[in-house]
Amino acid sequence: MTETASPSPFASTADPLACVPDSPLCFQDVSLRFGARTLLDSISFTLRPGETRILLGLAGMGKSVLLKLANGLIRPDSGEIFLFGQSIATMPEPALLNLRRRTGMIFQESALFDSLTVRDNVAWQLIERGISNEVIDRRVHRALSFVDLDDTFSLYPPSLSGGMRRRVSIARAIIDKPDLILYDSPTGGLDPVTSHTINELVIKERDAYKTPAILVTHRLQDAFTMVTHRFDHDANAMVPLPRGSFDPLTSFMVLHESHLLFDGSTDELLSSKDPFLKDFLA
Ligand SMILES: Nc1ncnc2c1ncn2[C@@H]1O[C@H](COP(=O)(O)OP(=O)(O)OP(=O)(O)O)[C@@H](O)[C@H]1O
Ligand SMILES: [Mg+2]
Repeated sequence: MTETASPSPFASTADPLACVPDSPLCFQDVSLRFGARTLLDSISFTLRPGETRILLGLAGMGKSVLLKLANGLIRPDSGEIFLFGQSIATMPEPALLNLRRRTGMIFQESALFDSLTVRDNVAWQLIERGISNEVIDRRVHRALSFVDLDDTFSLYPPSLSGGMRRRVSIARAIIDKPDLILYDSPTGGLDPVTSHTINELVIKERDAYKTPAILVTHRLQDAFTMVTHRFDHDANAMVPLPRGSFDPLTSFMVLHESHLLFDGSTDELLSSKDPFLKDFLA
């Protein structure tokens, strides 16, 4: 089928939840059950180009599952998921693989191969595609420099701290300049100082490349760091935005009891009257 023969999934409509034409990721009425439990019930949202969406929710609400749905690692029971404008809910695996390659995923547990060097972990996708060693080495050095870990090139993951492992997995996710980044709790289990470094890296990536992203976090403090800071390249550090202003391209979603309880800006979140949200934010 040619492109022009297929109807656009993004037909113009007044529906505020409809996907926009250049949306990197869009969920429409997505539901998923595990056994008797409906984990996600009719989830709809649209990520726009350049946007970062912070996904909050209590443990077990399905945040990691939502990220895996986003790149087709889990398939929904019903609804549509558009990744880079293509419907992936029932897309065959080989075609999906090509789209998944355009996404960078930072798994909740870093998911590095302990038996491979940092170089091979970071280069994993490029090695699979048969890219030359010389090009791979150059790109691994560049990705590791971005996360300030170039000196770990030849080391093995077990010799790294938890924070370093997380940074290596960020290097792996960004090495191929992804069109979408899915961060699953990148600061989970880390101490505040190390979390600061990871937050700074996420903000650096956001502000340097404007790659659309979904970021799951358990820590409200990290979420608010994301919206109240920008990356200053001259200082090579994140710096606070003027008091009371928030990054306009970073917004929030809250998943609660199978539903998307909230999807909106920082201002809207802070002024929400919803009793659960008020409690959650307090
Ligand atoms: N492949 C699977 N098969 C069956 N149940 C699953 C599967 N994956 C996840 N679940 C269940 O779905 C629920 C949500 O899991 P998920 O990992 O998405 O939660 P989460 O919101 O990321 O939690 P946390 O904040 O602890 O990371 C859990 O009860 C989990 O056991
Ligand atoms: Mg999780």
